[in-house]
Amino acid sequence: MDLSQDKMIAQQRHALMHYGTSLCVDMHCHCLPGVDDGPQDWVQAQALCAALISEGFNVVVATPHQLGRFEGCADAPGIRLRVRELNQWLTDNQWPLKVLPGAEIRVDERVVELLEQDYLMTLSDENQVVLLELPFDTFMDISPLLERLANRHIRVMIAHPERNRELSMRPQRVMEWAQYNPVLQITASSLLGHFGGTVQNAGYALLELPLLSLVATDAHNTDQRGPRFYEAFDWIARFLGHHRARQLFIENSLDLIQALAVQEEGFGKERTDLK
Ligand SMILES: [Fe+2]
Repeated sequence: MDLSQDKMIAQQRHALMHYGTSLCVDMHCHCLPGVDDGPQDWVQAQALCAALISEGFNVVVATPHQLGRFEGCADAPGIRLRVRELNQWLTDNQWPLKVLPGAEIRVDERVVELLEQDYLMTLSDENQVVLLELPFDTFMDISPLLERLANRHIRVMIAHPERNRELSMRPQRVMEWAQYNPVLQITASSLLGHFGGTVQNAGYALLELPLLSLVATDAHNTDQRGPRFYEAFDWIARFLGHHRARQLFIENSLDLIQALAVQEEGFGKERTDLK
């Protein structure tokens, strides 16, 4: 273990202490190499994993894009293989990060059929929750899709609703889908203003709605689309208090992933608060 690895692990420990948890899960991250607009190779993927560890994560759900402009880039078996390879590398190098399979699926009328064909990937491969991405520029009523998924007992997590143009201006419109109990995934860097003031304000407004919300990184790299989780946690803690920040950044993701019945060794059992 070299010095930089020591430093990375020390930073992880510090961040976990700061959040007041021993487990920290990123539910939305593009960390697999060579499948989408995330890391283009293993070196970049390892750099992103190092950044995630330094921010305190010890679990990350890999969510490469599926459908939309990335159609054909990754199918479910391909994602499972890449996740296995990345986990093997992390284990071989004693990096304290576990990768779970997942995907960010662009809204499409074929979603249900493609899930049944094992082309699309659910979060943690558990067939219980899908991370669904709306188009950025247009608003569409996704009720029919939500209903078809609900009929199959699949819940939807909406990826960064604050970045959809219509929802950024009228965030309360997500309540039109409230009967399907969607989870709102707000992006950490949105809350810091990375995508502009309208998106930032929408992010805060969405957190106030009576739906389950959580914050994830949607990180693609270590540069412009880096994790920024620690920074956003502090920002939210300052405005909404440490307790609410913990719910949004730590607890709601943990509850969801544990509800997915992930029973890996050392995961899903331990929930020791450090402060
Ligand atoms: Fe994403």
